[in-house]
Amino acid sequence: MSATAQRPSSRGRGAPAAAHGNFIAGEWKPAASGRTFENRNPADRDDLVGTFADSGPEDVERAVAAAREAFPRWRALPAPKRGEILFRAAEILVRRKEDFARDMTREMGKVLAETRGDVQEAIDMTYYMAGEGRRQFGQTTPSELQSKFQMSVRMPVGIAGLITPWNFPMAIPSWKMMPGLILGNTVVIKPATDTPLSVVNLIHALEEAGIPKGVVNMVTGGGSEVGAPLMGHKDVGIVSFTGSTGVGRKVSEACAPAFKHCHLEMGGKNIIMVMDDAQLDLAVDGAIWGGFGTSGQRCTAASRVAVHKKVYREFVDRFVERARALKVGDGLDESVQMGPCISEAQRRTVEGYVKVGRDEGARLLCGGHRLESGELGRGWFHEPTIFGDCDPRMRVAVEEIFGPVVSVIPVGSLEEAVTVGNNVEYGLSASIYTQDINKAFTAMRDMYTGIFYVNAPTIGAETHLPFGGTKNTGNGHREACVQALDVFSEWKSIYIDYSGTLQRAQIDTWE
Ligand code: UN1
Repeated sequence: MSATAQRPSSRGRGAPAAAHGNFIAGEWKPAASGRTFENRNPADRDDLVGTFADSGPEDVERAVAAAREAFPRWRALPAPKRGEILFRAAEILVRRKEDFARDMTREMGKVLAETRGDVQEAIDMTYYMAGEGRRQFGQTTPSELQSKFQMSVRMPVGIAGLITPWNFPMAIPSWKMMPGLILGNTVVIKPATDTPLSVVNLIHALEEAGIPKGVVNMVTGGGSEVGAPLMGHKDVGIVSFTGSTGVGRKVSEACAPAFKHCHLEMGGKNIIMVMDDAQLDLAVDGAIWGGFGTSGQRCTAASRVAVHKKVYREFVDRFVERARALKVGDGLDESVQMGPCISEAQRRTVEGYVKVGRDEGARLLCGGHRLESGELGRGWFHEPTIFGDCDPRMRVAVEEIFGPVVSVIPVGSLEEAVTVGNNVEYGLSASIYTQDINKAFTAMRDMYTGIFYVNAPTIGAETHLPFGGTKNTGNGHREACVQALDVFSEWKSIYIDYSGTLQRAQIDTWE
């Protein structure tokens, strides 16, 4: 996509901390209770990023009422006109990319190159869905009967409740918001409490682009105070959630009684398979980026690497050497390669898994500790960590950790790698490194995942192919691409009989 000139920005660590309200019916308002919560920089707990509305069910009620009121007019606006607003929002995001990326690094911790990528992904999605304003293709088909025309058209569901995670603070909100909006839905979004500023920025772009009042609403706050009333609200017709499989199950249960549309994007335990004919340098590059990019905090992170025994020792030596050399620190420093964990709690989870791995008998090859010396002591940093000689049944080899921990598993063949790869509860992403086209195609066919890569790591999906996974990763839906339109619309099949007579389908025949 288009490159952005990177101008100097005053945004980032130490910049003034602003107070942000909810966005309801086109206005920024404090929570009904007047309460706020703090958003702090995970690289420096003393850096206050901002304060946000600590909302409750009353705020959700108001936001849903605003979305309900705005719906008929937004739906009636021709889709190409809705697309023009999205197109303008994308242009604004292009212009503000650097500021928004710096804000995001400050609130989320991942390095600037990655937060620029996150904003870029929101730009890509917004342009893509702006284009859908002139597509939203349905079908026309011949009829069994004479003088009868038939077609299918999409219609919006109504009000979409969006619950978004902290690891892709602008990209994932855009994956849900833009398809919802272009189809004529109105939305209420609850951002993750760790990263609300990036959603505030996304909404500012839509506001500046002229989105009508009430079409987009945001309520910040906790899962039980905001998320639960939002997903349980009788007027919300579709809930889209990205987060853990445990919370996803609750979302699914909350949606079931009213048969609400429910889209879930949950955990992953993604594998890179390195065959004995792989280009090892390339595979090591992929394992480093896939495992430690975003500090391993991607649903698509390569948290497992299965390596053919013939190249195991050589691969592991190089992988460990490269992991040890990674520069960890504040992501606003351009020379840093890996940022902190998102929070103290997340780092504790990582430390818990390091202990589990050790107790299970996995070999700790590098890392394994929090980083606390000097400046790092102010954030939630953890060393890039590799466990070797893992048995594929160990907890560190099957459970999602969501941190900078990679488990390496020796395997004797492609078949064994595929079996190990598939033998987890998740099915998001997988990859193979090989020079043998037959092996590549075999793995492509046999891995039961929603995303598959050849000679590339498990991360890096683009917005114009479907994103999502099988098994406990999802519930059969996909984000991005045209598949996202299915989540936020209902199909209507329309039959127009212009014969002037009663024609009975399946009964009247034409010889
Ligand atoms: C996630 O892992 O939570 O494919 C989202 C990727 C990114 C999106 C990841 N484009 O790695």
